[in-house]
Amino acid sequence: MTTHKLFLLPGDGIGPETMHEVKEIIAFMNSEGLAAFEIDEGLAGGAAYDAHGVGISDDDMAKAEAADAVLFGAVGGPKWDSVPYEVRPEAGLLRLRKDLQLFANLRPAICYPALAASSSLKPEVVEGLDILIVRELTGGVYFGEPKEIIDLGNGQKRAIDTQVYDTYEIERIARVAFDLAKTRKNHVTSMEKRNVMKSGVFWNEVVTKVGAEEYPEVELDHMLADAGGMQLVRWPKQFDVIVTDNLFGDMLSDVAAMLTGSLGMLPSASLGAPDAQTGKRKAMYEPVHGSAPDIAGQGIANPLAMIASLAMCLRYSFGMVAEAGLLEQAISKTLDQGIRTSDIMSEGMTEVGTNGMGTAVLAEFEILLGEGQE
Ligand code: IPM
Ligand code: MN
Repeated sequence: MTTHKLFLLPGDGIGPETMHEVKEIIAFMNSEGLAAFEIDEGLAGGAAYDAHGVGISDDDMAKAEAADAVLFGAVGGPKWDSVPYEVRPEAGLLRLRKDLQLFANLRPAICYPALAASSSLKPEVVEGLDILIVRELTGGVYFGEPKEIIDLGNGQKRAIDTQVYDTYEIERIARVAFDLAKTRKNHVTSMEKRNVMKSGVFWNEVVTKVGAEEYPEVELDHMLADAGGMQLVRWPKQFDVIVTDNLFGDMLSDVAAMLTGSLGMLPSASLGAPDAQTGKRKAMYEPVHGSAPDIAGQGIANPLAMIASLAMCLRYSFGMVAEAGLLEQAISKTLDQGIRTSDIMSEGMTEVGTNGMGTAVLAEFEILLGEGQE
């Protein structure tokens, strides 16, 4: 059996608690001979700052580079609010994305049937929802230079962020979106602000060209990003794949997350380009939720987004498509049984903590695997 090197970066806040549940599933898969995962663990975010004075150490960066996949928890919290900008917890996450060149961020928003009532929207609006946000992750205003606050010398300062995209960056993220659409409902919606931003005009142009020349069979439409946000809460089922830039993708994916009942439900995959020789992609998997410092350490955080991130890892990094599907089914079945963490709790359901939820999913996973072998 091939050994898969997994590098875990639990990070801060609820990261370590939710990662613990994933470690249990990994240990189970190893002990059952379903996989041979080799696990190593490092520090990211505030935890790395406390130990090394940076958002992630060079040592841990090297381990992330060498791993087959990285599993990431969450970073940040009020404890580090006043650390220098360059070494803030988020800088660790951004360095991982940039140095590993993880330009394609896949954020699926799926509404599990049992959670349709937990959404802040009407059940009929979200029932059966299955959309995929493809967010560009290594460009745009997150990384564009200049990025600075300068002193104008007249008692005024000026803050500058730069939104910048080159042709190849838009082409490659568009291709990821079109390729994924072909495995789904064959429909891509591209979102930008071409009515205000040059980068939006250009984004629109490049996506249109890639679509027409390389994917004529995929339906493509365009929406201004603000209207897109509105449509996401009005009638989200009109979308299949949404492709958008780094900043709009950040915002729109938080909106999409809430459609599914809780920010605690949404996993993500961040992928690089396939290696020319091996075909392997660098990859990192992380929940979309943040470190939730307000509930950290209480054992009540929802581990489902972290567990679903492991499922994405099985699917995209290791080709374990069947196991990934079963793990996702285990999540769905656990919810069907009425088991809930506090963020998705509703009347008549059984409230459990992080560990209770993790254990319940693992038990379902075990049953489903057993059924598969019969
Ligand atoms: C996300 C997060 C990050 C981002 C933060 C923590 C830097 O909000 O992954 O969506 O803005 O990309
Ligand atoms: Mn975000």
